[in-house]
Amino acid sequence: MAPSWQTTFVTWRDWTDMTDTPADTPDEHRDGKTLWHGRFAGGPAEALMAYTVSLPFDRTMWRDDIDGSAAHVRGLARVGLLSQAERDAILGALDDVALEMSSDTFVFVQSDEDIHTAVERRVTELAGAAGGKLHTARSRNDQVATDLRLWCKRELLSVARSIHDLQSVLLERAEGAGDVYLPGYTHLQRAQPVLLAHHLLAHGWALARDVDRLLATRSRLDVSPLGAGALAGSSLPIDPAGNAADLGFASVFDNSLDAVSDRDFVAEAVFDLALIGIHLSRIGEEWVLWTSGEFGFAKLDDGYATGSSMLPQKKNPDIAELARGKSGRLIGNLTGLLATLKGLPLAYNRDLQEDKEPLFDSVEQVVLAVAALTGMIATATFVPERMQAAADEETTAATDLAEYLVRAGTPFRDAHAIVGAHVRATLAGEGSLRDLVAADSRLGPDAAALVGPGVGVRMRTSRGAAGPAAMPLQMDSYRKMMARDADRLGL
Ligand code: ARG
Repeated sequence: MAPSWQTTFVTWRDWTDMTDTPADTPDEHRDGKTLWHGRFAGGPAEALMAYTVSLPFDRTMWRDDIDGSAAHVRGLARVGLLSQAERDAILGALDDVALEMSSDTFVFVQSDEDIHTAVERRVTELAGAAGGKLHTARSRNDQVATDLRLWCKRELLSVARSIHDLQSVLLERAEGAGDVYLPGYTHLQRAQPVLLAHHLLAHGWALARDVDRLLATRSRLDVSPLGAGALAGSSLPIDPAGNAADLGFASVFDNSLDAVSDRDFVAEAVFDLALIGIHLSRIGEEWVLWTSGEFGFAKLDDGYATGSSMLPQKKNPDIAELARGKSGRLIGNLTGLLATLKGLPLAYNRDLQEDKEPLFDSVEQVVLAVAALTGMIATATFVPERMQAAADEETTAATDLAEYLVRAGTPFRDAHAIVGAHVRATLAGEGSLRDLVAADSRLGPDAAALVGPGVGVRMRTSRGAAGPAAMPLQMDSYRKMMARDADRLGL
């Protein structure tokens, strides 16, 4: 599945390539002037363009730019700043630009600094004189903020939907896992047995918070900045609230300075994505361990593993490793963006152009990671014998032995010491834990039975616990959460 946007982290070379007008290009597409040429006697230096253009990455917002412009044009017509004929001419040209963009026939030229200037240039070519009125009472500062909020509304929803798919696969695998159990770990040391279903759903619950966070971020950013102008609004009778409603925004800005300088929503989105990346990295790390020869808890499907160029026997968990590794990049995107925003004076500063690449990259990387992990987990084979053999190690019953004594009235601290001494003895080779427990009059044969294979997991009975008795309630709440989220995500 190809992402719906273009590759990010592009360079000046990409810009020169994409604006390298072919020899047979009709004159109407030939290079124009910058939007701001009137104030300047000379043209821009190549080094300035090389350093400042954002077209290679912000063209991914072309659809949002056209939607924002169309709403702006309808708004100008509503308040009488455009005639019906002018309105129709510009809207028709915007439709044509959309067709050119979607069919990849749009010709970019060297004076196109960003997607906003490219679209406006082409509209003026197509709509004639009326095109010159498109930018009335608007600045690229409110325009870019509008585009980016529209982009986020769509893309954050699609990230949340893909996470929902991963949560569904975790549920399916949990349902299929039945009573299979494995060691639960603390400090990566075997601690107590837990159901495989319980372990899988633990990640599903973390992802549920991610979905919730994305939706909360999305509803907070659902505010239209269109009409804030460059920074201070307009002397013309524009209708920002009408434009907000036209674009499907839940509300409209109250303060023009805040509207054009606020990038909290980008920081929040990039944080949400970084935290998703961290959750995926934790899943990834476990699968690296689980598929190792040492653990042998799971086997990857051939389609979701890679081989080695030199070692013929290798089958490597590269998806899981990259889910772990790329979380570094997602954290980097967040810290880089926060550093960019820190100390910026009101209102718009060109620094803000640095919001896009981290955002686009984080979205792209999370979508790719979620899809790959979803397929990897859906197709992997668990190895219950290995999991259960590891969990049946006698000492993982130690807490249950202490709790046996607690039920008989022994204070937990004393019980801990009694059982701890038996564990020390068994590890020193003085006999099996089962035999030592059976021979201790404070414990005896009933307690010794707790050391048997498969017993420990059944002892985890309290609410939200890791055993089969508590599982139906958890499954039920998980399914309810999934149904609620499917609803919220429009699935
Ligand atoms: N490419 C710019 C950005 O992403 C668009 C806004 C430019 N505004 C300006 N006043 N130069 O921020």
